[in-house]
Formats: sequence, structure tokens, C-alpha cells
Amino acid sequence: MVMHFNAKASTYEAHATPQRRFAEALAAFAPFESGERVTELGAGTGFLTRALLAQGAVVDASDGSPAMVEIGKLSAPSATWTIHDGFGEIFPCHNLASNGLLQWAPDPGNILRRWHASIHQGGRLLLGVPCEPGFCELRALAGEGPIHWRDEAMWIAMIRRAGFKVRGSAVLEHPEIYPSSVDFLRTLHYSGVTGEPHFNAGTLRALLRDYTRLYGNPDGSVRATWAWLLVDAAA
Ligand SMILES: C[S@@+](CC[C@H](N)C(=O)[O-])C[C@H]1O[C@@H](n2cnc3c(N)ncnc32)[C@H](O)[C@@H]1O
Repeated sequence: MVMHFNAKASTYEAHATPQRRFAEALAAFAPFESGERVTELGAGTGFLTRALLAQGAVVDASDGSPAMVEIGKLSAPSATWTIHDGFGEIFPCHNLASNGLLQWAPDPGNILRRWHASIHQGGRLLLGVPCEPGFCELRALAGEGPIHWRDEAMWIAMIRRAGFKVRGSAVLEHPEIYPSSVDFLRTLHYSGVTGEPHFNAGTLRALLRDYTRLYGNPDGSVRATWAWLLVDAAA
């Protein structure tokens, strides 16, 4: 998945309006104090990085995609940036933050245990992940897609099993409107979240037609539900 995001790094920001909104909401949900040190994983082009820097946090940002890191260095130059696998070895840190990464892990419970072990005593995890009922419209027509969808209770139970004490959580649900079903799928494609396309042309045409019929407005625009879980957890 990293290399797929790498290929879409230059088009990510222009097609990731919801991700930006959720990253900013996550930072505001449980702000860091000025001077606190935060290690950010899967930072992408820096939506959450910039919000954390605005709070005065000292941010060590990383992403597995070299192209994302290059853009991140330009968009948030006062963070330090490295190319790093967020699901690999994590070095000891004061606090961890991550938005829109953990859902890509094949075994997120295992990754959370590793993250928990890396955080110093007194530190915390600030986590944003997509959750139910996100993309319920598309999933009803096209199947589950590249990630395993979990609801708030499933994520929270997994975070607690990894050793964290959850201090607060919230689900933000937002119906996004796109000019057409083609625009909707194109936006997902250019933000890198669709993985490898697995539809032939005929199936794709039928999907677009059905999406417009079921979730469209008289002007041809369509809706898609985005839902994001915000979690503040002590290590
Ligand atoms: C949906 S984007 C989110 C980016 C950013 N956090 C945001 O909120 O806009 C997911 C990011 O995770 C990165 N990523 C995916 N798998 C990764 C991994 N194993 N290690 C580090 N980064 C990874 C991708 O390169 C991409 O930048």
C-alpha cells in the first residue's frame, strides 16, 4: 500500500479534503502543550503535522513513502522528517500520533502493542482511523475494498488490549458531496486510497450507474459518508 500512496503523493492533498478535516479535528480533540515532543507515523504530506506544529509541539514526522516525505518537508519544514515503516521497529518516543495509517495494517492489534511498548511512561497516543459507517454506500455496492472496517467499540477494545488507557474517543460522521459518481471514484483514486483497481470496464460502468441511481441527487451529484474515529489514549 505504501508504494501506491507513493505514486499518488503529488495529487494527495488536492483530493484529500476529508482527511485534512479529520487531521485538524484530531489535533484539536486532545491538543499537545507547547514544547511537547511527538513522533508522528504515516504523516503523509503533513496535514496532522502542521496542526501539531501550530500547537507548539516538536514533531518528528515520518512516512513509508519517500515521495510523501519530500512533500512533507516542504509543507511542514519545522518538523524533522524521515522515511520510516510505521509497522516496523518503532524507536522509544515521548508521544505517538497517527492519522489514517493504522487501518492499513494487516494486524493492527499487534502494531498497537508495539506502539505501546515504544512510548515513554506518561506519554500518550493520539490516533485517527476511518471507522463504521464510513463508505457504507460504496461498500454496499462494491464490497469491503482494501481495508477491514471496524466500528468504534472494536477499535477501542483493541486499543485497550494493547495496554492503553483510553481517555477519550469520538466518531465524526460527515456526508461528503461529489459532483458525480465518477468524480467520487476519481478523488479516491488520486488520494491513493483505492489500492489496485480490481474492476473491469463493464463492472466499473455498472458501479458508477448504480451509485448515481442509489445515492445521487437530481443534479447528478452523489453523497458518500465519511466516518473517522478520534482516540486519545495514555500509554
Ligand atoms: C491516508 S494517508 C494519511 C496521511 C496523513 N496522515 C493525513 O492525515 O493526511 C496514509 C499514509 O500512510 C502512509 N503509509 C502506509 N503504510 C505505511 C507504513 N507501513 N509505514 C509508514 N507509512 C505508511 C502512506 O504513505 C500515506 O502517506
